[in-house]
Amino acid sequence: MTVLAIDQGTSGTKAIVVDPDQGVLGLAEVPVHPVYLADGGVEQDPQALLDSVVEAGRRALAAAGRPAEVVSLANQGETVLAWDPATGRPLSQAVVWQDGRAAGICQELADRRDLVESRTGLALEAYFSAPKMAWLRRNVTTSGVVTTTDSWLLHQLTGEFVTDVTTASRSLVLDLDRREWDAELLDVFGLAAEPLPRIVACDEPLGTTGLFGDELVVGGQVVDQQAALFAQGCLAPGQAKCTFGTGAFLLVNTGRAAPRSRNGLTTSVAWTLRGASDYCLDGQVFTVASAVRWLTDIGLIDGPAHLDPLAADGAGDAVCVPALAGLAAPWWRGDARASFAGIGLATTRGNLVAAVLQGIAAQIAELAEVVEHDLGEPLSVLRVDGGLTRSRELMQATADLCQIPIEVYASPHATALGAAAMGRLATQPELAPADVVGAGDPSGSYLPRWSADQAAGFRSRWRRLAERNLEEVNIGG
Ligand code: G3P
Repeated sequence: MTVLAIDQGTSGTKAIVVDPDQGVLGLAEVPVHPVYLADGGVEQDPQALLDSVVEAGRRALAAAGRPAEVVSLANQGETVLAWDPATGRPLSQAVVWQDGRAAGICQELADRRDLVESRTGLALEAYFSAPKMAWLRRNVTTSGVVTTTDSWLLHQLTGEFVTDVTTASRSLVLDLDRREWDAELLDVFGLAAEPLPRIVACDEPLGTTGLFGDELVVGGQVVDQQAALFAQGCLAPGQAKCTFGTGAFLLVNTGRAAPRSRNGLTTSVAWTLRGASDYCLDGQVFTVASAVRWLTDIGLIDGPAHLDPLAADGAGDAVCVPALAGLAAPWWRGDARASFAGIGLATTRGNLVAAVLQGIAAQIAELAEVVEHDLGEPLSVLRVDGGLTRSRELMQATADLCQIPIEVYASPHATALGAAAMGRLATQPELAPADVVGAGDPSGSYLPRWSADQAAGFRSRWRRLAERNLEEVNIGG
């Protein structure tokens, strides 16, 4: 079964054509360009997202030189737009998951925090979809439907009005245990009158599409982070991965249980496959490739390939909290911003770049620590994937600060491969989840070089800076 798998991400759309025996036969990537607004808004042009999906899919098929039978889709998760269900036309820009403009709506609902958080497993934060849907309704349009981008894209492909259960579990209006829209929560967000998409499993075939040329079955739909968790073979409780994309996302499988975090992480559906649902705990770093793009935009580096040569000499005394779009779990301070400390006349450009990489790694280490607290046991290894795993300096810093081995996934296409595996399940009823993914051998691994004391010393200095940073935001705000 040859699958066209599409990973529609924040910074670009990647399409691969994959055959279970021969591997990846064709690949195409089309960048998309979020617009960063001064008021904390982050928007994308929905038509550009759709065009990138069609173009990447067609180019990957052309590169493969043979047809696929099924197309599967991984999506950004919490990015929303309004659109007309009669014509499919967008009625708003896509409001990206990094967009902070719905923070005021979350503040208004502070007295409902316990209800919202306990029922959904999430944090009452602008990062998730429902506050952004409410913001769109108040500020942009009352027409059409307002959904996450997957519903719109799947509608363009099949005419259906659906979202998959993993994406729905990132919304703040899903009852996490029943995996159904929750009327009380919809009311809380002022969304009670909204027509909502039907929630489907990750392996449900949804129809067919001719958008890529030959008619393909559409099946295998999932939010991108869960796709990578699946591709990495994290099928057993306690297995964890971190994807280094636009942001970094650390997920740990919790099996059939949907535990609520006691330490500021969030809980989502990992997947519903073969009629059974697994869950995961997750924590986020909002800016990773975004931070690298910022370093590039301000002229400090020429691009991601420039990171390691510059950072090789280390950070010196410089330390950085690279919270350019706020701090996510476990702080949940969308209003935080980045800061540097320890800069003197001898500080070099390379020191600053190394400090940013260490600052990203320090956030991953904080997340790994709270995951361990929630699980009640240490992580033995962290599997990683995503574009910035190519930075050896970032991976080494992550191993040093997490104090566990880091294993890099063998393929640079984990998210798309996870979606592809679900596409196979959607079309081959005889297969089980364990038949379509396996951990495989990592392409590289990193062992901690820092001692435990050195890591602890750095982390307490980094935490002090993060706390000072938040105090400063409190004074400023
Ligand atoms: O929660 C947002 C995240 O899933 C987006 O992933 O790959 O676009 O950075 P990515």
